[in-house]
Amino acid sequence: MTSASSTPLQDMIPECGAIGIDIGGTSVKGGLLLPDGTRHVSVPLPTNLDSGAGVFLDDLAHWIGALGCTCPMGVGVPGVFAPGSRKLTDSPNLKTLEGCDLAQELGQRLGREAASIRVGNDANLAAFGEQWLGAGRGHDDMVMVTLGTGVGGGIILNGRVFEGPAGRGGEVGHIRIHEGELAPIACGCGNHGCLETFASASAAQRLARNASLPTDLSQLADAARQSAGPARDLLETIGMDLGRGLAQILILLDMETIIIGGGFGAALDMLKPGIQEGIRERDFTARMPQILEAELGSDAGWLGAARYGL
Ligand code: BGC
Repeated sequence: MTSASSTPLQDMIPECGAIGIDIGGTSVKGGLLLPDGTRHVSVPLPTNLDSGAGVFLDDLAHWIGALGCTCPMGVGVPGVFAPGSRKLTDSPNLKTLEGCDLAQELGQRLGREAASIRVGNDANLAAFGEQWLGAGRGHDDMVMVTLGTGVGGGIILNGRVFEGPAGRGGEVGHIRIHEGELAPIACGCGNHGCLETFASASAAQRLARNASLPTDLSQLADAARQSAGPARDLLETIGMDLGRGLAQILILLDMETIIIGGGFGAALDMLKPGIQEGIRERDFTARMPQILEAELGSDAGWLGAARYGL
């Protein structure tokens, strides 16, 4: 994935626009980006795989069709793709789609060449989007961490998204931060102790429910902002686990900029004290990176996908 350049939109996007699709564990977001910068954002489609991959892909193709079928298109999906292949090899949160060649499946349904549909990891594309149009502008080295159904990561090195030879580069949600009794919940990947089981939006909802706190995460963050108490304590605990995971990224990659996005990323102000504590605990250098909130919010993934499609 090459650098998200600063070329003006009108020089890079054809008149019909560019379509970006971001398949999440809970819903699909997407839209059409026009050369003048206008964004037509679609009403999200629930990610309903109860009736199998075929029915979901039919619904998805129908939903994408409403945006237009001939414009360049990129699709972000949670999971690992072997670079060079369009097959999703591992997807802890969307197991039903494992083994699926999404470009082929969507191409057939939309009546377009599979090769004209670019498919990539959702968090890599969100990082690409933030670097292109959001908080990552001007940062050639950064890591983006998305807090949604899972925890995703996109590493940008020297202005390029680093996917790795097996496509698992940036799978930060599966960094192990706890073991044994401290890690009772199994991750979708089959392991215990993954960052995703402590700091994703789904983990935060589970922990809030167990503590009889609001499971609506914006209400939880508001309660934490209002006063000291259990909501603030919970977000600090989650932040600390996130910081423990980030410390491992920092020790490995020595990044100066970390962008936090995904739906739960909007609680960053309340997570930050814990994050900093977690980094201090696990990174012996205790050098703080700048930790920025994603600017594009839930649009980062589909905008990055649209850029990828170009
Ligand atoms: C998957 C990643 C994905 C992340 C966010 C993780 O469980 O392994 O590929 O980016 O969830 O959706």
